[in-house]
Amino acid sequence: MSKDERELFPVTHEKIYFNHAGTGPMSLPAQRAVMQCVETYLRQAEFDLDAYLERVRSARATVARLIKATPEEIVLTHNTSEGIYIALINLPLHEGDTVLIMDEIFPAVRYVADHNLPYVKKKYVSFLGKDAVDVVRKHRERKTKAVVIDHVHFLIGEMIDLKPLAAFCRQENIYLVVDGIQAIGAVDFSVQDTPVDFVACGAAKWLFGPSGAGFLYVNKEHFNSLNRFHTGWLGAEWPGFDNIELRPPLYSDARMFEQGTRNIIGISAFAENIKVLLEYGPARVEQIQKLKQQLRQGFRDMDFEIITPARGLQSGIISIKPAKDAERLLEHLTSHNVVISLRNNCLRFSPHFYNTPGEVSTILNLLGSDPSKSTAQIRPFA
Ligand SMILES: Cc1ncc(COP(=O)(O)O)c(C=O)c1O
Repeated sequence: MSKDERELFPVTHEKIYFNHAGTGPMSLPAQRAVMQCVETYLRQAEFDLDAYLERVRSARATVARLIKATPEEIVLTHNTSEGIYIALINLPLHEGDTVLIMDEIFPAVRYVADHNLPYVKKKYVSFLGKDAVDVVRKHRERKTKAVVIDHVHFLIGEMIDLKPLAAFCRQENIYLVVDGIQAIGAVDFSVQDTPVDFVACGAAKWLFGPSGAGFLYVNKEHFNSLNRFHTGWLGAEWPGFDNIELRPPLYSDARMFEQGTRNIIGISAFAENIKVLLEYGPARVEQIQKLKQQLRQGFRDMDFEIITPARGLQSGIISIKPAKDAERLLEHLTSHNVVISLRNNCLRFSPHFYNTPGEVSTILNLLGSDPSKSTAQIRPFA
């Protein structure tokens, strides 16, 4: 990663930022997009309709490009939960149908499933460390209609192999609903390679935000068979707003699930952040894996317990469970401007493509020095 590319992310001046599984920092192009919107609101209160619609169109097309979908398959949402909600309430499920849900799933999905589908049986089963197809084969019931899963576990970083699972679900007529927020942006993911039915993803992490933006992918094969809940007046194609009596019909594609006036500032910034990722292409995934390997080797050398599997598909997350004093280690890193997360007594490291081997070395040196005695002069930006 060259200096210029790091310059797109001012956080690199301030911090050694290894917390993209927590919150992704904003890029300068996204900041510019926000400022342009603010200028418009300041000077003319509202966007010209064409300019507004162009921003929405362009954001949708950019998201579609990221996962190799078509723009009509993309719902612009506010977060992952909203996407999961739209997917689940619109599945043609009936009283007594069962949804199989990953037991280790992040609470965002669990809350949506538990509180919005009273008529459906929820069956939680463990997927981590297992072959996903075997799990579904073993636990499915006669009326199992959908599987809901995190592509990447938020802490352990294990990445579920979705390709065989998607093929199996397809063959068995089971919907596959995926929470992609801990994967998309950090790993290669495309709906062409992995034909799932729904993917919900917030912008806030690996896509650099901003929080309050996100998307849901809806496989076009389902447009005609889904319910039409969570729709609203902007789920229809208005030629203009001078005649409100027109009442055009809902879109017949995923856009029907967008309800009303949009968060145009967030959508515009989101699109710019994705463009930065697209520009760096597959090299960004390779860089994340190189940094992760370097971290893994360093953790091994220091005998840390690494809870992230070394085998299988690799996400952007690597976590360790220190034998004691995880909090003190975190404080030590924080005091040297390193940003990571502490979750369930584990330290989670989640580098992105602009991080450097020098930053990894600094982190490893800090972990190797005794926090209580440390007066080490470690240069955080080496
Ligand atoms: C796997 C996973 N899903 C979802 C979320 C957050 O969901 P939302 O975007 O709805 O806030 C997180 C956030 O930490 C997460 O790790």
